[in-house]
Amino acid sequence: MKLTKQQAKAHNEAVAILAKDKLNFDERRFVFENWHAGANHINSATSAHFTPCGLARDMSINVGQGPVLDLCAGIGALAFAVFDRWSYDKPLDLVCIELNPDYVAVGRKVLPEARWICGDIFDLASLELGHFGTVVSNPPFGAGHRSGSAPRYQGRNFEYHVLDIASDIADEAVFIVPQMSAPFRYSGHQTYSADPRHRSREYEKFERVTGIELEIGLAIDADMYRNDWHDVSVSVEIVTADLTEARARRGAVAPLATAACMTGDLFA
Ligand SMILES: C[S@@+](CC[C@H](N)C(=O)[O-])C[C@H]1O[C@@H](n2cnc3c(N)ncnc32)[C@H](O)[C@@H]1O
Repeated sequence: MKLTKQQAKAHNEAVAILAKDKLNFDERRFVFENWHAGANHINSATSAHFTPCGLARDMSINVGQGPVLDLCAGIGALAFAVFDRWSYDKPLDLVCIELNPDYVAVGRKVLPEARWICGDIFDLASLELGHFGTVVSNPPFGAGHRSGSAPRYQGRNFEYHVLDIASDIADEAVFIVPQMSAPFRYSGHQTYSADPRHRSREYEKFERVTGIELEIGLAIDADMYRNDWHDVSVSVEIVTADLTEARARRGAVAPLATAACMTGDLFA
């Protein structure tokens, strides 16, 4: 895609910063705000719309326990926000998985504290990563290209596939999803509404087969950041899910935490 003059200038500055050996905090932030997914890639093809920093920062309030896994991590906007908010008093284990090697290369520069894996989330089981406290994700939305399917949900919405995959390997989920995929309305509305009419047929199917119930968590009006997305204007909600309960609802045995990946309360 063609960037505006201003976007191209800022993107080039970000590229110059990335050439440095080590980046300070302000430089990392600058890259998150200005490195443009659309400069070298057709970002609509992989839905590479990176989360605005403000929204990522607000989303991170909902993350309560580590280790943290970021699925479809892009260059790490969500993982960086979690790291920035929660890693002051004790180290936080962070793993980022992203398909595009160019994004992984940028991610390794701006968030070297995370373990970066260039891979497909539909191959996650083969990576044997252990168990996580929280999965965060702003995945591709809707009926985009997928190389596979989640274990239970077989429908068209990419975000539901990622949630279903996450429910096998973590205790909590904090996701950014299209507003239409949430069973409530809050962002951009005057009040919170869980009117049953907000539950689409696809959502009902997703909840029935996975046992995952999407909730509002600590209410954040994602609409405040509507104009901060690069090149798109999207209505989203931040949703949370108790994945331990989801597993119990579908009668699965909770996986044991591995020694390498013990869960721990970030507030402790
Ligand atoms: C909407 S972007 C969001 C990126 C990042 N989570 C953020 O919030 O800025 C979705 C990302 O998912 C990646 N992606 C798409 N399919 C994937 C897959 N099967 N496995 C891993 N990453 C994938 C894309 O390359 C893109 O970077």
